[in-house]
Amino acid sequence: MGAIEQARVTVIGLGQMGGTLADAFLAAGHRVTVWNRSADKATPFVARGARAAESVAEAVRDGDLVLVVLPDYEVAQRILDPVAAELAGKTVVQLTSGTPEQARTAGNWAHRHGISYLDGAAMSGTTLVGRPEALFIFGGAAATFAAHRNVLRALGNPVHLGDDPGLAGLYDTALFGLIWGALSGFYHGTALARADGVDARSFAEVAAEHLSFIAYLLREHAGQIDDGSYPAEDGTLDVHAAAMDHLIDTSRQFGVETAVPELFATLIQRGRRAGLGSEGIASIVRPILSGAVEQRQGTPL
Ligand SMILES: NC(=O)c1ccc[n+]([C@@H]2O[C@H](COP(=O)([O-])OP(=O)(O)OC[C@H]3O[C@@H](n4cnc5c(N)ncnc54)[C@H](OP(=O)(O)O)[C@@H]3O)[C@@H](O)[C@H]2O)c1
Repeated sequence: MGAIEQARVTVIGLGQMGGTLADAFLAAGHRVTVWNRSADKATPFVARGARAAESVAEAVRDGDLVLVVLPDYEVAQRILDPVAAELAGKTVVQLTSGTPEQARTAGNWAHRHGISYLDGAAMSGTTLVGRPEALFIFGGAAATFAAHRNVLRALGNPVHLGDDPGLAGLYDTALFGLIWGALSGFYHGTALARADGVDARSFAEVAAEHLSFIAYLLREHAGQIDDGSYPAEDGTLDVHAAAMDHLIDTSRQFGVETAVPELFATLIQRGRRAGLGSEGIASIVRPILSGAVEQRQGTPL
């Protein structure tokens, strides 16, 4: 192992995610203290070099960076409240999943107690943790993130979204939609490919290559959505409606369930009914956002 700056890291919660994070810090050579409600879960981590604290207070005293990885904010707050005084001057990194509002409330709580606070989300499951491609996103003071960035690198690729602690929860929640949408499309496409005799692995190889085009479209269309202008260069809603009909018809011919393409076809039809048929495909965001428009007056859609 090269010379690293050894940090004192505490991990509270040794479930599937917390345990993986504790191991990543150990692998990076940091001094790791762990605490878990069921104390026996700490034993294998001690065998790998961690120190098991007997209480939350002891765990918190032992670390400068305190990661909290619990099922929800209610549980996390119940555990942290009694040790607020011990946490003063330290940094809490909340990796418990929750809403932006819960993160902001926790950030305010930390601020009142003189605790530096980052609210994060693990975006790549557990199996990639410790590798550079494992994405971790954080909201919270830029200076706090900068101070701990090198230590957080033990987990993968730590990315700072901004000073607002609610940002990680917001991105995390919004990106659920991306992963489920992408996987829905993949599962449907795989079913169609298999129905015509192509195995899933062969299909996935080509689908994975196709993702770079999809990533390109995300960035292009984000600019259009922010600017409220939808050129037709990636196809109009009318053109995409015809393509969706083709996908739905072909699926039916092969006896493949059509709920996935029908969802997108329904959204396209809504856009066409709203008069967007000759606009670029990214204008589909307008009917999707229609309920939110009144709350965000002045935002171009
Ligand atoms: N697993 C993933 O792939 C993944 C991915 C992204 C985000 N996350 C997020 O990470 C957080 C933890 O998930 P996980 O998968 O690690 O969960 P998990 O495997 O179910 O572990 C839950 C942990 O919370 C502890 N716990 C539960 N109730 C508690 C209570 N009332 N008081 C104290 N400790 C309590 C458990 O302790 P005991 O051992 O005593 O039961 C255990 O350490 C969640 O917010 C989850 O959404 C997980």
